[in-house]
Amino acid sequence: MSVNVGDLDAIAVDARQRIGAASDEAALEQVRVELLGKKGALTGALRGLGSLPADQRAAAGARANALKGEIETMLASRARELQAARLQTLGDQEWIDMTFVPSPVRRGHLHPLTLILREVKAIFSRLGYEVALGPQVEDEFHNFEALNIPQEHPARDTMDSFYVDADHLLLRTHTSPVQIRYMLSHEPPIRIIAPGAVYRRDATDPSHASQFYQVEGLVVDRDIRLSDLKGTIEYFARSLFGPDRRIRIVGDHFPFTEPSIAAAVSCGICGGAGCRSCKGGWLEILGAGMVHPQVLRNGGVDPDHYSGFAFGAGLDRLAMLKYNVTDLRLFLENDVRFLKQF
Ligand code: PHE
Repeated sequence: MSVNVGDLDAIAVDARQRIGAASDEAALEQVRVELLGKKGALTGALRGLGSLPADQRAAAGARANALKGEIETMLASRARELQAARLQTLGDQEWIDMTFVPSPVRRGHLHPLTLILREVKAIFSRLGYEVALGPQVEDEFHNFEALNIPQEHPARDTMDSFYVDADHLLLRTHTSPVQIRYMLSHEPPIRIIAPGAVYRRDATDPSHASQFYQVEGLVVDRDIRLSDLKGTIEYFARSLFGPDRRIRIVGDHFPFTEPSIAAAVSCGICGGAGCRSCKGGWLEILGAGMVHPQVLRNGGVDPDHYSGFAFGAGLDRLAMLKYNVTDLRLFLENDVRFLKQF
């Protein structure tokens, strides 16, 4: 293909028109490729210079090179215009209103059982207790036998269990197996609480669920007496429920403690006179007792040298009493309208 100065003029006119018409940076880049790219109009023209007669070649070459410079200048200046226009539009569309007041960020809430557990831990840590944990899938030895609950013992009926498999593994029915595990792995003096989930095949109602939470306590040392247990329960209950509450201790029965007791606090609603929510002025909060000598032995502790007390409280129950919640199931449902009250 041969080129003449007229062709170059046509390219110049065309280039000016198309560069001016490019409406954004992408379109302009397209125009640049069509003019100066490998297959571009001007590139083609420059290539064609070689076939011109020698006397025209120099002039056409100079004109073509000048045109290339002009086109580059036009492209650059159009690019600046288009960029400025783009930034202007962006600035119009994407502004920040410094006077805008956002709606306040809503804070989450700790679950009432978490709150209670934190308080219980704080109270007992002031008394020097440590937190111990045990597995939720237990074996019959730790959950029953070592706690003086043999196969045919009626207590197994009151703690109807979920068995996991035929290997005598079950979901623990209480946190007391942690007593055994801890004694077997630690020397006295022992002073622990063991919080966690427990499971029973209870029909669900406002005060029963098949999963709930307990906190176990175990103290083993020389000369531990019932009066130590009583003082501990009183300190615990007053710390959790306030100094005005009275504590009542009555006899009870558990196979793994001797003697066994149950502790109740005076009702916070009626002050102990008796009302609808307390039935007689008192609310039971825990079972407890002196660790049975055989249980100490099962835990590898010599009852001739050591004695101990243990207690087990329902965390859900403590939370119900403290926050005046009348249905245990609310703790398990995670309804935010309930949770956000705490
Ligand atoms: N494990 C008993 C229960 O679940 C509570 C308890 C714990 C009683 C420790 C006495 C001592 O009912």
